[in-house]
Amino acid sequence: MRFDVLTLFPDMFVSPFKESILGKAVEKRLIEVRTINIRDFALDKHRVVDDTPYGGGQGMVLKVEPIARAIESLKAEDPSAWTIYLTPQGKRFDQEEARRLSTKSHLILLCGRYEGVDERVRTLYVDQEISIGDYVLTGGELAAMIVIDAVARLLPGVLGSDRSAEEDSFENHLLEYPQYTRPVDFRGHYVPEVLLSGNHGAISRWRRQEALKRTWLRRPDLLSKARLSESDKEFLGELSDSLAAGNGTDAV
Ligand code: 6GU
Repeated sequence: MRFDVLTLFPDMFVSPFKESILGKAVEKRLIEVRTINIRDFALDKHRVVDDTPYGGGQGMVLKVEPIARAIESLKAEDPSAWTIYLTPQGKRFDQEEARRLSTKSHLILLCGRYEGVDERVRTLYVDQEISIGDYVLTGGELAAMIVIDAVARLLPGVLGSDRSAEEDSFENHLLEYPQYTRPVDFRGHYVPEVLLSGNHGAISRWRRQEALKRTWLRRPDLLSKARLSESDKEFLGELSDSLAAGNGTDAV
């Protein structure tokens, strides 16, 4: 899958795609991340990419022409490329959107800066606008990296064969159960007995219940989408009764 990033700060994208899982995905040619400096598409002598807003007001606006030329050059290579503008005004990004985007073969990610882009960029060149959450960043670059990371790890071969993306939090709308590794005793804090028991049925049940409990306590909004069995519902019912009876969350 190909990702073309339009940015004024291409250097920001160097190390995230050199290291670890994404670095390997690049090496294995599973993904290709190219950065395109918007400034290279400014035709004037000073390579101006921004200007003051019509109507007055604070800050600068990214001009339409350099971005238009940059996107047109990419679309000339591949008319099927899908163009995303990263902006706090976009639809909030989530796992479902990451899945949808992972079915595309070529994304163009436009990173905004300053007060945003000329509206004609949005209306003429942008297929979709994405925000990564309800807070404001200095620009779209970090958001673009987050989108690329979340999408890339869903592509076949990017995660090792021993690690499937299907069991992740948010794929099943449950948070993950707690994990432990050696030592069994860290300064008197022990690994739960059941995990040492070798009883796989009991371990699965414990993990399921821990996942349910964690989701119920931290992200109850997710539970309405989760597929719950009768015994899951029974467990959550007991949990709710136990809290109503005045047991603090320490006990559960
Ligand atoms: Cl995509 N861009 C900026 N500048 N801020 C954001 C964002 C994007 N998503 C959340 N905040």
